Amino acid sequence: MLAKASRGEYAAEALENIPDPFCCRFFKPTDAENPSSIKVAPDVRSLITFRSLNLMEQWPNQGAVRRDLCRNVMIYFDAPTKAKLIDRFIRLIKPGGWLYIGHSESLLGSHPGLHLMGRTIYRRDP
Ligand SMILES: C[S@@+](CC[C@H](N)C(=O)[O-])C[C@H]1O[C@@H](n2cnc3c(N)ncnc32)[C@H](O)[C@@H]1O
Repeated sequence: MLAKASRGEYAAEALENIPDPFCCRFFKPTDAENPSSIKVAPDVRSLITFRSLNLMEQWPNQGAVRRDLCRNVMIYFDAPTKAKLIDRFIRLIKPGGWLYIGHSESLLGSHPGLHLMGRTIYRRDP
């Protein structure tokens, strides 16, 4: 999956629901003769690092993040594990930063300092 993500190549239909200005800016045809395949634009691709991480283990110390996207992963964890993980996310996210989870998920219990801003979108206190 990491190799696939790192290639950043998709069937053109994958962009169907993405507005045109974003498609043009962030994706390019993989090959001019094959418009059915598109690729993440090189300048965007160069900003992304792909690595595996077991959320249950120690995390690399890379400093605080502005946005944390953890979609449909906590569905595997029991309530205490999920609560601990969310607390770790809160510590990881910069003040005013964002946490995005899957649309079928919710944060259990109370997590002071994290506020619901939209459908499964949370913001840490600035
Ligand atoms: C339902 S998939 C969601 C994949 C993707 N985030 C998405 O929304 O399409 C759940 C993912 O959680 C990952 N996962 C499960 N336990 C994990 C853990 N302890 N640490 C990191 N990832 C985990 C699985 O490997 C799987 O890729």
